[in-house]
Amino acid sequence: MKIVIGSDHGGFELKETISEYLLKKGLEIQDVGVFVPDSVDYPDYAKKVGVAIASGEGDLGILICGTGIGMSISANKIDGIRCALCNDVYSAKMAKGHNDANVIALGGRVIGKGVALMIIDTFLNTNFEGGRHNTRLGKIKDIEER
Ligand code: RB5
Repeated sequence: MKIVIGSDHGGFELKETISEYLLKKGLEIQDVGVFVPDSVDYPDYAKKVGVAIASGEGDLGILICGTGIGMSISANKIDGIRCALCNDVYSAKMAKGHNDANVIALGGRVIGKGVALMIIDTFLNTNFEGGRHNTRLGKIKDIEER
């Protein structure tokens, strides 16, 4: 499994923590930046991660900005991206189990490192439940294609 991760300056510190954590677990990580905490525009990084996931270059995406809001709004503009803003563990479980989210967004200024790593573990270790949820994902696709 290849994970593509990106952040703006508001999520930089948490991105570094998450990348290091996942690398230690032996996961393949593609980091699209930022690499220094200078001010940037979050849609540029949401686009890099979203395009990589939508094109199949990576399997799952992680986006971090100050709140996670700007990243999730931006990533969800890309066809095929289901980005879930999850600043708690329950949302992370449901995002994969019910929504088959392929990108998760977190708020680097909202949650601490401990909670963030639990959210990431939950997201990576939960499987999509399928069944009735497939019908709903199909309806999301219909909206995307309208
Ligand atoms: C940057 O100051 C901040 O607006 C950004 O990180 C994010 O929170 C946007 O949604």
